[in-house]
Amino acid sequence: MRELVDEVRAWLAWAEESGLQNLAPPGRQAQQVETVKLPLLEAVRTELGECTRCKLHKTRTNIVFGVGNPEARLMFVGEAPGEDEDLQGYPFVGKAGQLLTKMIEAMGLRREDVYICNTVKCRPPNNRNPEPEELLACEPFLKGQLGAVKPEAIVTLGKFAAQALLREQTPITRLRGQWREYQGIPVMPTFHPAYLLRSPAEKSKVWEDLKQVMKRLRLPIPKGGAS
Ligand code: URA
Repeated sequence: MRELVDEVRAWLAWAEESGLQNLAPPGRQAQQVETVKLPLLEAVRTELGECTRCKLHKTRTNIVFGVGNPEARLMFVGEAPGEDEDLQGYPFVGKAGQLLTKMIEAMGLRREDVYICNTVKCRPPNNRNPEPEELLACEPFLKGQLGAVKPEAIVTLGKFAAQALLREQTPITRLRGQWREYQGIPVMPTFHPAYLLRSPAEKSKVWEDLKQVMKRLRLPIPKGGAS
């Protein structure tokens, strides 16, 4: 196992340096990839280390790497940790996180079934938007997480995560509900749960987006939605 983790770590370092697009370790068979997802994720976390690659490290309490099932079929990507997340070290644990949990449960899943992370792993001061160099410094680790978990679909939460991943400035009102792609993985942009807390009338749109995801993953579609 140690050898494998070292191999993956070396590969990730090389992938980061060379800006590699394909995150599957070269030469590995599909069956083998299935059995190494947890060590792969751990290798990405180890590679991240006590990161000082951007200035966010100066003000963070904890790195908020990600949480959930290393074999998840579905990954949720948010913007950046907020205060609660920074203090606890886990993504989406505040009020918006509680609503995200309800959304996941409305899909007939549990939080432990999916994988949840953010575009950047450290809290920006005063919850400002992450800056381009912060995103750039953190992107190899998001790619590493995607390469390890290999979800069948990604749901981006809010304008920032969608625009950062898709590298376009299209307003979230136009992006949401439309399938896109990142690193060859289908992406469904939807509204951020923090926005839904302020505008609960928009929940029905998010439910439509999540139903598209369930359809794509061939999950049974429960009646109702996140309330
Ligand atoms: N908002 C986000 O985008 N991510 C979190 O982890 C929490 C709130």
